[in-house]
Amino acid sequence: MKKNIKIAPSILSADFANLEKEISILNNSEADYIHVDVMDGHFVKNLTFGPPVIEKIRNYSTKPFDVHLMIDSVDQYLESYSKAGADIITIHPETTSNLDNAISKIKSLGKKAGISLNPDVSLDKVLPVIKTIDLVLIMSVYPGFAGQKFIPDVLEKVKILREKINKENLDVEVEIDGGINIDTAKLAKKAGANVLVAGTAVYSENKVLENIKLLKNC
Ligand code: DX5
Ligand code: ZN
Repeated sequence: MKKNIKIAPSILSADFANLEKEISILNNSEADYIHVDVMDGHFVKNLTFGPPVIEKIRNYSTKPFDVHLMIDSVDQYLESYSKAGADIITIHPETTSNLDNAISKIKSLGKKAGISLNPDVSLDKVLPVIKTIDLVLIMSVYPGFAGQKFIPDVLEKVKILREKINKENLDVEVEIDGGINIDTAKLAKKAGANVLVAGTAVYSENKVLENIKLLKNC
């Protein structure tokens, strides 16, 4: 049976000088979410954009915004990203002083809550709260930059997570982020991921629509 895989192109690899155009291309694609990588230069060694830019580009999108927050002291910013138009807000456990409270806050803002685990962060950080969230984002690179090499060791976490979710019939998505291309997408899918984030693979050779279709059907 063919599983329904969702694709979340990361606009980190899009042309920042033409974001309106880039969003409209994605509107006409088979993408399911638009993955928005927010970096603060502290939690990760790169800096991208914040709520004002997200708010502007959200107006042009017909697809949900999957906002991946890689920022320290995340608690104080949840409301701004919610107001800017995030549909899913994903945070790293290391960036909050109280994970339960942060999840409750995201849910109380009417948003879907995701937890992201870096390659060296164990599933123990997410399992205790799994029933209160909508998505787990397994990082298959150390976050910060597009174009890095996929770390296959993280697939074990995907497998364990998928088994638990299926066994307990939980409504939680398993998303994977970093180094996804046609080959690694197949591995991630086989391990149980149902949402694939891709930056470099989507924006290669100026063939966004075709690349998304290939990933979706691989
Ligand atoms: C990594 C970001 C990713 C990144 C993925 O720091 O969280 O979303 O943009 O890019 P690729 O697909 O090129 O690894
Ligand atoms: Zn990301």
